[in-house]
Amino acid sequence: MKIVIGADHGGFALKEDLKAIMLEQGIEVIDVGNNSYDAKDDYPDFASAVARKIAGGEGDKGIVICGSGIGACIAVNKFRGVRGCVCHDTYSARQGVEHDGMNVLCLGGRIIGIETAKELLKAYLGAQFSNEERHARRLRKVEEFEKAV
Ligand code: RB5
Repeated sequence: MKIVIGADHGGFALKEDLKAIMLEQGIEVIDVGNNSYDAKDDYPDFASAVARKIAGGEGDKGIVICGSGIGACIAVNKFRGVRGCVCHDTYSARQGVEHDGMNVLCLGGRIIGIETAKELLKAYLGAQFSNEERHARRLRKVEEFEKAV
């Protein structure tokens, strides 16, 4: 599994921690930055870098972290084929993938701590799209919206 991760200053510390955990588990990680803490950096730069790689098939799943998760989530969803959601509970982190094809997990580094983040990571990485007919049908309907704009 190849995971693309990025964060601004609001999520930098949590990104470093989650990246270390994934590397320890033998998961391939593409870190699109920021590469050091910069209080003046902007979340769209890292959200777009994650989104481009997911849209281009360079990673299986993405993770983007800003202060709240919200700005990063808004930004990644501007990219065709990218479905990002803020999930701060494990039910959503798993079901978002299984039912809705979520492919970018958006987290708020100022909202959750490392233990919650670890649980979310486990739920998200362990989930796969169900491919059940009703889920596939609903996802196709959502994908139609992208063709319309
Ligand atoms: C940056 O200070 C903060 O606004 C950003 O990380 C994020 O929370 C936006 O949604």
